[in-house]
Amino acid sequence: MKKKVFVAREVFQEVLDFLAPHFEVQANQEDKVLTAEELVGVLADKDGAMTTLTERIDENLLNRCPRLKAVCNIAVGYNNIDLAACSAHGVMATNTPGVLDDTTADFAWALILATARRLNEAEAYVRAGQWDKWKLKQFLGLDVHHAALGIIGLGRIGQVVARRAMGFEMEVLYYDVRQAAPEIESACRATYVPKEELFRKADIVTIHIPYSRETHHSIGAPEIALMKKSAILINAARGGVVDDAALVEALRTGAIAGAGLDVFEGEPAIHPGFRELRNVVLSPHIASSSEKTRFKMAMKAAENLVAALSSGNPPNLLNP
Ligand code: GLV
Repeated sequence: MKKKVFVAREVFQEVLDFLAPHFEVQANQEDKVLTAEELVGVLADKDGAMTTLTERIDENLLNRCPRLKAVCNIAVGYNNIDLAACSAHGVMATNTPGVLDDTTADFAWALILATARRLNEAEAYVRAGQWDKWKLKQFLGLDVHHAALGIIGLGRIGQVVARRAMGFEMEVLYYDVRQAAPEIESACRATYVPKEELFRKADIVTIHIPYSRETHHSIGAPEIALMKKSAILINAARGGVVDDAALVEALRTGAIAGAGLDVFEGEPAIHPGFRELRNVVLSPHIASSSEKTRFKMAMKAAENLVAALSSGNPPNLLNP
């Protein structure tokens, strides 16, 4: 008898076709986000699941879904999964590293450029029919070229962001919990500095760390207070890493010049203050969303699911 799996959110048809010979597949192609109770109901008789950051896999769910052996996240981040609880229940958890670094770094750069050059404000102005004459002092922005870029987290994505900075002839500073190997620093032309120094010196701070208990609000009022008034903050990593209330306050009072945000605490709800501000570029968690990359992510999760439930050895196992 085939094992049963659930694909928790809409995926490409090719991904379902790939799973079909291996499993009895139930797929949520209507793309409704299930409540915790609905998810338990669906997973109670399943051997495996493909999940996304909208599905919480925790102790409560695992207690009530005893057949579950594999949870394969369609994301590199996995803060929706309680890894310790998975290990305690003998459930394999996987993610999708390696396929989205370039695409996510590209989007961080889109936010950097849009925020620095106030593209959202300028676009809204033209669209609203307000453009009546050329002005010398119109939408004065921040130069990206030759600026100091401060990268929080020189992991896979942070490294790509750093390498892209060479084209803009920038000074690249980074902070991480561990200093990177010399070969990585030299390939990225990045200099390790203490966190406080990075916030003080950078013209652009861009965040590329995962969300965890340790990184919760690790960028809050004290860090933002160190930033230059002309500086901007970019977050294409995870909501909750930044204290959004503190950021709204800093943007409102002009303590910093702007922010570019793809992720939010409690998303898809966002702090209402962001919507009222013009000096913030907002996007709905789409940094990895190119056609090719989202396909690769979903396919990688499917490959992990097949490997987990056949060999017990998926390529991207998070809790060996
Ligand atoms: C997306 O946010 C991911 O973690 O892959």
